Amino acid sequence: MITILSIESSCDDTGASVCRDGVILSNLIANQQVHEQFGGVVPELASRAHVQNIIPVVDKALKNAAITLLDLDAIAFTQAPGLIGSLLIGAEFAKSLSLALDKPLIAVNHMQAHVLANIIEEPRPSFPFLCLTVSGGHTQIVLCSSPFDMKVIGETIDDAAGEAFDKSAKLLGLPYPGGPLIDKYAKNGNGNRFSFPEPRIPGLNFSFSGLKTSILYFIHKEQAMNPNFIAENLEDICASIQSRIVSILLHKLERAAKETGISNVCIAGGVSANSGLRKAFIESGKLHGWNTFIPSMEYCTDNAGMIAIAAYYKYLAGDFADLSVTPNARSEFI
Ligand code: KG4
Ligand code: ZN
Repeated sequence: MITILSIESSCDDTGASVCRDGVILSNLIANQQVHEQFGGVVPELASRAHVQNIIPVVDKALKNAAITLLDLDAIAFTQAPGLIGSLLIGAEFAKSLSLALDKPLIAVNHMQAHVLANIIEEPRPSFPFLCLTVSGGHTQIVLCSSPFDMKVIGETIDDAAGEAFDKSAKLLGLPYPGGPLIDKYAKNGNGNRFSFPEPRIPGLNFSFSGLKTSILYFIHKEQAMNPNFIAENLEDICASIQSRIVSILLHKLERAAKETGISNVCIAGGVSANSGLRKAFIESGKLHGWNTFIPSMEYCTDNAGMIAIAAYYKYLAGDFADLSVTPNARSEFI
């Protein structure tokens, strides 16, 4: 029996999870509300909140899994990428616990863990599969041949999909993070009402910065004629923005599936919680004959369960870190 405690602290949420033989026994997250008033994550405030949250969250994760520290076989943590101050709290906590308990330490890459969120629960994709990983900091198409043989075959050249959602929401005067709010208002809106351009980027790469600019000009133009334009049309604007972001993502994913001939296709990351993307992805899968996979909501946005599952495969492979390991703000993924 292999029991692993994992810590996720790459951005603003502090997560802890316990996994036994690849089964998640508990998965907890402490959200930080402090950033909302600033319209984005303030790194120093995030680090301080991690310090306050980490012990209570770990305690609760152990309690919910009905185990104690003495039952653990390894301690895992997110090593990269993320905010360096935030990563440091999780890394130092995990290292201290590993030293005190004399149990191995496992360093996990956050982006690999997002992809592996797809193999936490049944039905699981068989290898090889493609994964569209869409989060606040990344947009990648990953060709995954085994838990640790992953290749990024397409990525954004500017903003991430989550940033496109959050920045669009900001232009509409919505609070941070605006992605879930755009999703909420889009549910009652007409996505064909306003048309935003699809960028022409070669190959499998993405670009979202032009979309943000076109939304900005569009809003300025409409507001000059009607100062209440946003309030009167919020649902249709959100639906139209969401529909364009989703179509940009799916056109590239369709191209990747065609070029690689791979028909097991997954999505992951915070933006995979978006209801418009989930629906369109499943429809696209039906149309193209894919086997589609989407993690449960709790494993889409940042969570420690995905870190635990990645750590479990690393444990099986004997891939341990030593105490000199340091976190890295940038991804060392492939
Ligand atoms: O993966 P994640 O939790 O954290 C990062 O590693 O970045 O992703 C956070 C991103 C944010 O940009 C947030 O607005 C977006 O995911 N997001 C959504 C939804 N839920 C979270 N975007 C659109 N619709 C949603 N329902
Ligand atoms: Zn993430």
